[in-house]
Amino acid sequence: MRKKVKNCVEIVQRDENVISKASRAPYFPLVMKSGRGAIVEDMDGNKYIDMFSSAAVLNTGHCHPKIIQAINEQIDKFIHFSTDYMYSEPQVQFAEMLTKITPGDFKKKVCFGLSGSDGNDGAIKLARSYTGRTKVISFIGAYHGSTYGAISLSAISLNMRRKIGPLLPEIYHMPYPDCYRCSFGKKREYCLMECLEYMKTAFQNYIPSEEVAAIIIEPIAGDIGFAIPPQKYMEELYRMCKEKGILFIVDEVQQGFGRTGKWFSIEHFGIVPDVIIMGKSIASGLPLSAIVAREEIVDALNMPAHLFTVQGNPVCAKSAIATIEVINEENLIEHSNVLGEYIKERFNFMKEKYELIGDVRGKGLSIGVELVKDRITKEKDTQAAIKICYRCWQKGVILIFLAENILRVQPPLVITREEVKAALNIIEETIQEYIDGKISDQALEIVKGW
Ligand SMILES: Cc1ncc(COP(=O)(O)O)c(C=O)c1O
Repeated sequence: MRKKVKNCVEIVQRDENVISKASRAPYFPLVMKSGRGAIVEDMDGNKYIDMFSSAAVLNTGHCHPKIIQAINEQIDKFIHFSTDYMYSEPQVQFAEMLTKITPGDFKKKVCFGLSGSDGNDGAIKLARSYTGRTKVISFIGAYHGSTYGAISLSAISLNMRRKIGPLLPEIYHMPYPDCYRCSFGKKREYCLMECLEYMKTAFQNYIPSEEVAAIIIEPIAGDIGFAIPPQKYMEELYRMCKEKGILFIVDEVQQGFGRTGKWFSIEHFGIVPDVIIMGKSIASGLPLSAIVAREEIVDALNMPAHLFTVQGNPVCAKSAIATIEVINEENLIEHSNVLGEYIKERFNFMKEKYELIGDVRGKGLSIGVELVKDRITKEKDTQAAIKICYRCWQKGVILIFLAENILRVQPPLVITREEVKAALNIIEETIQEYIDGKISDQALEIVKGW
């Protein structure tokens, strides 16, 4: 059990005094001091197994020696020099690597930025300027970030949109193909892809498809709750895009870079998108985003419609190059698949024992565990999610939840099987404690979540 909290609590109090509350969804007072691989130490010396990876930002884990070396070598030479006006070799090298690891054997180009959010904004700009159309389709429940364009694409939280309007016009949200929580009340066996029919109806009645520039989708929907669309849905969506001249754009900010057991989650569907947005893990924690798209799409955007003073910063680019090398050299994509299967097996085993677990889903090391009050009604058990995550933190496992009730299991891809086993043992023990009513209500005052 976690014992010392003094230093962490003191910093949290200072934080509350000076840092915007709009920038954090609080879970527990964890202030990090150091980290290695999948292990985190806080300011009071408590150690944790990290099942969160800083929201899927640390696929290569904490402080990988090769990443540190790449960063140090670059810092020793120079930290930044504008690529808005001049050129940078690390940026070019990383862009060349990206064009090779992304699906599609056509000519591609890259736009750099600093966050997944600006990547999403850039994708809207690319789509509009290439197609000459204005409308964009995204999905209910999606999170694409918090710049104006990204918020306009997102539809996950009213508070995110309140008081800041008007947002970007001409963005339309469709039901996501979430088969556990089907918007049309269907079961998988009886699915007639009503969600896609809904979009088709929209195209017939109020959204002229010849005015639609792009559909932007997360192929495996992170914050919606790790929903995985049916293969036939994705194929039909893609076919419809091609038929109507709509760009098929994927947001791989959270699921990309090996997280789901492929370089990019869209590869699970065998579909080659027109545009890919990436961020989070690509520079192992340094701020960097990238949009990779067909050359003609990138070239359609005028200068200076998408540039940032520190875009593709060389320290970030070197870290990103090392990130690709580490993922390749350490076989992390395969590791993600193998460990992901093990984790799902363990949670499915728990599901047989505990009615609380309604569904286990995901790919690679991107797994969601639905906690429900009732398996038939699927009523979300938010209290369970709060208490279990809080107690796990007290016992040395960093685990959070999303969509009110879904345990978000996304450890660094470098985590060992022993570490995973130890974390899962604690999680299972904690689920049992929750069921036995042994976790106090204290957590409910502290954990706010999304
Ligand atoms: C799918 C997805 N897209 C975009 C973003 C925004 O990325 P960032 O926070 O780097 O701006 C996130 C962040 O959580 C995300 O999960």
